[in-house]
Amino acid sequence: MNTMALQIDSHLRRAPHSETLLAAQIARQRQQENKAVYRFGFGQSPFPVPPKVVAALRNAAQCKDYLDVQGLPALRSRVAQFHSQTSCTSWNPGRVVIGAGSKILLYCLMAAIEDADVALVTPGWVSYEPQARLAGHRIFRLETCFEERWRLTPAALDTFCRSRAVPSRPLMLIINYPGNPDGLSYAAAELSALADVLRRHRVIVISDEIYGLLHHKAEHRSLAEYYPDGTIVTGGLSKWCGAGGWRLGIAHIPVALGEDYLQSVIGVCSETISCAPAPIQHAAVAAYELDAEIQHHLDRQRSVLAEVGNRCAEKLQSAGVNVHRPEGGFYLFPDFQDFRARLAARGVTNSRQMTEALLDETGVSLLPGTAFGMPPESLSARLAYVDFDGAAALADNRRGMQQMEKGVAALCTWLTA
Ligand SMILES: Cc1ncc(COP(=O)(O)O)c(C=O)c1O
Repeated sequence: MNTMALQIDSHLRRAPHSETLLAAQIARQRQQENKAVYRFGFGQSPFPVPPKVVAALRNAAQCKDYLDVQGLPALRSRVAQFHSQTSCTSWNPGRVVIGAGSKILLYCLMAAIEDADVALVTPGWVSYEPQARLAGHRIFRLETCFEERWRLTPAALDTFCRSRAVPSRPLMLIINYPGNPDGLSYAAAELSALADVLRRHRVIVISDEIYGLLHHKAEHRSLAEYYPDGTIVTGGLSKWCGAGGWRLGIAHIPVALGEDYLQSVIGVCSETISCAPAPIQHAAVAAYELDAEIQHHLDRQRSVLAEVGNRCAEKLQSAGVNVHRPEGGFYLFPDFQDFRARLAARGVTNSRQMTEALLDETGVSLLPGTAFGMPPESLSARLAYVDFDGAAALADNRRGMQQMEKGVAALCTWLTA
């Protein structure tokens, strides 16, 4: 058949392939060739879904009808109750939207408004920028640095807000903590100071708190506590419930953003997903019941992640790598700048070359800083410390350690060679 030359949408053309999935594919291939593989590139939860949630899914297998676009009312109530219990915020079930993963909800939240400036904290998660482009917005990157713990500072935010060419255009900020890729959170005082600036400039914030329940010390504070009128919070089952493939995300949209905006978000959901899968929504009702089983599951995951993450960070630090001890979620974001001269002598001058050479020579896969918006010449990368058997680690923290320790040791040896 003759091929047809299609004119690809320019926004789509600019959307890169997901680098996380590519890294997983390369790791799979090495494994088939019986070579050592340390899958520190792909950040999927290693933990099983709690048994009562699996049982609820089994019981819901016959639920086959379409549900309300906004989500099952019983689930929206549970989600609102759960988040009101686990954070110092008050969620309104009428303002909760359920989606097939929070990723599509992030897109719907952006696509529901026209012609906005979207500010992205850098480094930040891979999908925000392509999604904002697909929604037709202008992108601005707010850069952070290792020395400031990759935090957005109120001063930098204020400077950006004041410098905008068209201040009347809506401004959306996407912030994510505990962060992917940095694993760090914001303290209450930092959130409060950011909230003052956000309020002053009437910024609409999407606070991606999908790792909030996996704050290692259970000390996550929602930005909505400090800036309730302008903060949309997103989350879902993928991380704390270990159910990424189930595709269930949630968003809470404050009343102050108006009924029109809520209806517009629901409209985009309707034109894209129709509704999140019905059996998954029924199972999620069980997941969002904060009983002893769920509480124990959260406590155990936090304990394992804290121990493994801190051990990896310590090992890297003792090899001379700049990295912060993690506060939540699955990731470290080491900066290998101090190894620049040594790496350059081996022909490695940017993060992509660094991760390629590392994977090739040791089997350790990391994601380059460029995947998170860092400049090409930076020598940063994301390390996901979840390459272990989650079920075994829930029973005994040490079972999470072996593979991670071996891989980090291989990385340190490679760096200092
Ligand atoms: C920071 C962040 N936000 C959102 C998502 C999307 O999660 P999901 O669509 O599975 O809810 C991810 C998943 O990797 C993530 O790391």
